[in-house]
Amino acid sequence: MERTLVLIKPDAVQRDLVGELIQRFERKSLKLVGIKMMALSDDLLDEHYSHLVGRDFFAEIKTFMRSTPIIACCWEGVDCVNTVRTMCGITKAREAAPGSIRGDLAMSVQANLVHASDSLETAEVEVARFFNANELFAYEDVVNPFVYSSREK
Ligand code: PPS
Repeated sequence: MERTLVLIKPDAVQRDLVGELIQRFERKSLKLVGIKMMALSDDLLDEHYSHLVGRDFFAEIKTFMRSTPIIACCWEGVDCVNTVRTMCGITKAREAAPGSIRGDLAMSVQANLVHASDSLETAEVEVARFFNANELFAYEDVVNPFVYSSREK
């Protein structure tokens, strides 16, 4: 099973969409294995957005991500990384496909409600960046046989 990181961004917190976003992933039958509210430090954001250093919006995205606490979630499932990216829709929310989180609920490139890891390799790094090992849980998922066939797991 793959695991991926989702950050529920300040615009979702301000717009009271935290429950809606968590519910979308739950209803998809992804398994929640870690969740916490966090105020992000400057250092953590420098690390998380290090690939964006030099972009003209770098300072702005950091200020935005510090404007409220965020909700960090770790979701687990078969092909979870790509599944979550598809559910989120493209970065530029106003052009995201209807049915996706951004397509249904957002307009902005920056205030696009969620961050989701973009590859399995990135997901492993990002989950470890936001969660200590003892904050991630392995537990029996009793509906699992009704979510996947035995050959898919
Ligand atoms: S990009 O532009 O190709 O790097 O886009 P992407 O990799 O999808 O975006 C990375 C994060 O940067 C944010 N972003 C922006 N913020 C403000 N202004 C502009 N123009 C902008 N473009 C991209 C975008 O919301 C992504 O944030 P995360 O937290 O990774 O989802």
